[in-house]
Amino acid sequence: MNYKRILLKLSGEALMGEKGFGIDQNRLMAYAQEIKAVYDAGCQIAIVIGGGNIFRGIQAEKGGMDRVHGDYMGMLATVINSMAIQSALEGLGVQTRLQSAIKMEQICEPFIRRKAVRHLEKGRVVIFGAGTGNPYFTTDSAATLRAIEIEADVILKGTRVDGIYSSDPEKDKNAVKYDTITFEEVYEKGLEVMDMTAFTLCKENNLPIIVFDMNKKDNLFNLVQGKKVGTLVEV
Ligand code: GTP
Repeated sequence: MNYKRILLKLSGEALMGEKGFGIDQNRLMAYAQEIKAVYDAGCQIAIVIGGGNIFRGIQAEKGGMDRVHGDYMGMLATVINSMAIQSALEGLGVQTRLQSAIKMEQICEPFIRRKAVRHLEKGRVVIFGAGTGNPYFTTDSAATLRAIEIEADVILKGTRVDGIYSSDPEKDKNAVKYDTITFEEVYEKGLEVMDMTAFTLCKENNLPIIVFDMNKKDNLFNLVQGKKVGTLVEV
């Protein structure tokens, strides 16, 4: 196995599957299966999932809602998705623990870094909910922060595209995909991998990022086994 400890970042929107809103059970189960395969191979897994399938803070702001208020609603949305992933994984016999950045002790543990690391060492998938617990930060930033805190080897950003392209492949037929790219090149070329806060945090802490297509079967497993999947961003 190429990576001993990973942080998997999933988008909330991906959980919608073919639906326009909420959680598609088929997609949820498919993701849980992909994660289980990596878990069975002995990889330590932490997960951060977005909340955009339920609520998007930024769009709420456009509608006149206070930004901070909207961001907190978005954080709660990530907890709902985290609980869904937790339930799906446990249904497959995968041990999990959910920790939230905002205390809600009836539902899950509070985020405690040292406890999260112990859980990982004991073979539990740890899901981090409620983002960073602060407004103005995306779930990409939360994923990056948690990955650094638990000393993950890599952050795996599961998306709908199979990597980073020189331009938007849906608009430009000459777009080329990068197998690897450096942080500097991403800045220079103005490519979008994550928001700048998250991306810079990765760079400054020497945390490699792999952008890959989470919807393609076995991609996650192959990637963790060291096969060429997606695009690797490294120093
Ligand atoms: P170890 O003792 O280190 O093996 O970890 P553990 O997670 O098995 O022990 P613990 O007694 O902390 O937790 C037992 C169960 O209670 C686990 O499913 C935890 O997720 C859950 N749990 C622990 N703390 C909290 C909490 O503050 N709130 C909620 N809702 N559940 C909790």
